[in-house]
Amino acid sequence: DWIMSSFVEQSIKAIKEKVGDKKVLCALSGGVDSSVAAIMIHKAIGKQLTCIFVDHGLLRKYEGDQVEQVFKEQFDLNLIRVNAEDRFLEKLSGISEPETKRKIIGEEFIRVFEEEAKKIGKVDFLVQGTIYPDVIESGVGNAAVIKSHHNVGGLPDYVDFKEIIEPLRNLFKDEVRRVGEELGIPAEIVWRQPFPGPGLAIRIIGDITKDKLEILKDSDHIFREEIANVGLDRQINQYFTVLTGMRSVGVMGDERTYDYTLALRAVTTTDFMTADWARIPYDILEKISNRIVNEVKHINRIVYDITSKPPATIEWE
Ligand code: XMP
Repeated sequence: DWIMSSFVEQSIKAIKEKVGDKKVLCALSGGVDSSVAAIMIHKAIGKQLTCIFVDHGLLRKYEGDQVEQVFKEQFDLNLIRVNAEDRFLEKLSGISEPETKRKIIGEEFIRVFEEEAKKIGKVDFLVQGTIYPDVIESGVGNAAVIKSHHNVGGLPDYVDFKEIIEPLRNLFKDEVRRVGEELGIPAEIVWRQPFPGPGLAIRIIGDITKDKLEILKDSDHIFREEIANVGLDRQINQYFTVLTGMRSVGVMGDERTYDYTLALRAVTTTDFMTADWARIPYDILEKISNRIVNEVKHINRIVYDITSKPPATIEWE
């Protein structure tokens, strides 16, 4: 892809000139945009870049380790991973209200990031994974905030930096993925489905506990594995499991059970503003359902969400 390779080449040259011998800081989430932005800058200036990866413990199964492995081992990037699960869970304890969860996570995220950034000391530039649709969206100004998307905008104001670097500012999502491939970032990151900043916290209806988090992670992992097995992982734009707060009666062997109902959510969409529920074939749903109830303790019922957006949203919270 010569267009992308010359884009990458020119961007790297421009970043080198801009940064000189100064220091750059980046908040890495493991999502497509921040990953591609970080690797691009890393290719340009190497160890002058430090990335902080705040692992709030609300990521999908194995995700934190995978991010660390790719960025540290494959790219030898200066990465600081902060394992902050306990801090986040403590702050979230007993909280059920979705917007309150978001607010707590957003604030704690900044706090953890800030603590780490202070240890690094003075930096001159801050990397943002802003892409073109973000630029348009924030320019128009969202009239109605249905859910607060905290990871758009919101810069920590304490950081003593001079300037923001946004290497993907002129690119659409598909172009960002092509750049990512050009840079040699593994497909599981480049083709990753969108994942909300507050993570699994907004996929557990009601209060969050470590046990519920485990149930959600395990079930979600099986769902994704089966979708990838049948090759639907790039056709369905977002798919995940939701731990409903509801429990119901079931039977396992001779035993009566009273356990959680898990929902499967899968949508096709182009812009995530509207979405249609994905028509996953019944036999695939059957396999997913069987695997989850057999392999994940405390789930005895699976439902499939067949509402589109609107009137529902993609996430349940
Ligand atoms: P909804 O549920 O509003 O989701 O239809 C639309 C898209 O936005 C993602 N989403 C979020 N992303 N912080 C984020 O960074 C959030 O608080 C948040 N809430 C929803 C959702 O996953 C979907 O892709």
